Amino acid sequence: MKKIVILISGRGSNMQALLEAKLPCKIAAVISNRADAQGLQIAQAQGISTATVAHKDYADRASFDAALAAEIDRHAPDVVVLAGFMRILTDGFVERYRGKLVNIHPSLLPSYAGTHTHERALQDGVKIHGCTVHFVTPTLDGGPIIIQAAVAVLSNDTPDSLSARVLHEEHRIYAQAVRWLCREQVWLNEDGRVASNRLEQPGPALVFPGLS
Ligand code: GRF
Repeated sequence: MKKIVILISGRGSNMQALLEAKLPCKIAAVISNRADAQGLQIAQAQGISTATVAHKDYADRASFDAALAAEIDRHAPDVVVLAGFMRILTDGFVERYRGKLVNIHPSLLPSYAGTHTHERALQDGVKIHGCTVHFVTPTLDGGPIIIQAAVAVLSNDTPDSLSARVLHEEHRIYAQAVRWLCREQVWLNEDGRVASNRLEQPGPALVFPGLS
């Protein structure tokens, strides 16, 4: 059975969704860069091994990333899942886990890389927003896309209301993406593109506002 390690920094709702998804893998550990991350308690309550590698204890990114990699590698994971992990990783770290490191981002990439995605989407007046699971490469939020989910942006949305609807979809698509990875149904090929041996099932198109 494949092994995964999940990295978090805070609330851990995506991590929790993965714990509840009955994935075909062993969740070997949850690691945080903050000792007070709420998600650590959720993982501990479910008997998952947890650890903190506090970025504040390290002089620079390279030494933090080396310590983080050492903690991850104790578990020899097949997949390393960033779930609200709020540190930018060095190129060396990202290359070390090429094809094994995935992230969830709260926008339809390549739109709205970076932070404050919901505020920026509302400011721009887009009608459709969403979330993306992607392999991590040295380009921030720029790696090959595995799966996306789209939600309608309502005229009375606030960043909080929009974020809540997107988060609901994050929990669904992250579990799906990790399930595919654990079953070797999706992988990163030598050309740096996402490959898959599963049948594609097109869902219904989202048109918003709806046609009348
Ligand atoms: C999520 O919106 C995720 O997309 C972003 O940070 C948030 C983390 O939430 N990268 P949680 O810790 O999983 O609840």
